[in-house]
Amino acid sequence: MKVDLPTPVSTEEMKIDVREIEAILQAPPMNLPPWPDAQITLKDGRILYIRSIQESDIKPALGYLEKVMKVEKDFYDIVGVRVYGEILALIRHRLKDPFTLMGLVDGEWLGFANGRVWDENVAVSLHTLTFSRKARLGWPMYYAKTYYAMEMLKVKEWWSTFESYNGWRMAGLSMAQPTKPYPQMQHELGGAKIFYLDQENWQKRVKNYIKEVIGQDLSFDVSPEVKKANAVFRVPETIDL
Ligand SMILES: CC(C)(COP(=O)(O)OP(=O)(O)OC[C@H]1O[C@@H](n2cnc3c(N)ncnc32)[C@H](O)[C@@H]1OP(=O)(O)O)[C@@H](O)C(=O)NCCC(=O)NCCS
Repeated sequence: MKVDLPTPVSTEEMKIDVREIEAILQAPPMNLPPWPDAQITLKDGRILYIRSIQESDIKPALGYLEKVMKVEKDFYDIVGVRVYGEILALIRHRLKDPFTLMGLVDGEWLGFANGRVWDENVAVSLHTLTFSRKARLGWPMYYAKTYYAMEMLKVKEWWSTFESYNGWRMAGLSMAQPTKPYPQMQHELGGAKIFYLDQENWQKRVKNYIKEVIGQDLSFDVSPEVKKANAVFRVPETIDL
């Protein structure tokens, strides 16, 4: 867009270093606490190791998600393509204050959960994914990011939405999450309803939920054997969803 100048100027063109544009487009990051690695035993006896995403995971994870986004079942396609964008955004710095958890079993990437911080009062849940069906693996993944938001960031509210019936049952129904007024308030994922937890609901009722549904709590005391078994990250060889 060009507008006539209100005064004579010495030079009519300026050279811009795009790093200066980047500084404007990219908000300064908040100083988020690190996620302490955790483990939990699934109902089928496998040990799920939950750690933060590492830069070296990104390329293989994106390659695997290219296949997941083609699965036209149980909303894997829409969630797969959105998660692809959110993981790519980590290296392109186009997601404000994200936190991204990877669930591994013996090094194999079988679970995913992420969110981001809106401000010091609100964190937003983005997606949960499992690549190992019927193991209730999604549940501890969603719980882990909720725990991070409510216990470690200590936000007042955690805002979720659900693209799928399985997602809603896992966290909307089983955590009895109420909704914000709609359409006055909309979740950033497609303008859907905002389901939320506040500290009162979390502390009085929901914090114990993982013990009820999985039979045990997350352990932040990860054994050396579990760390060793998950030292090398790999994506599943096949798509069996
Ligand atoms: C939502 C999600 C994370 C839930 O995790 P989960 O409960 O561990 O995952 P599953 O899909 O394996 O299981 C959901 C239910 O469907 C059942 N199920 C899964 N595959 C099945 C199949 N082929 N036949 C019959 N039942 C099946 C499971 O047994 C489970 O029921 P149960 O808990 O009563 O046993 C997971 O379904 C997922 O990744 N979905 C795609 C992405 C998505 O929708 N993410 C959430 C966005 S809000």
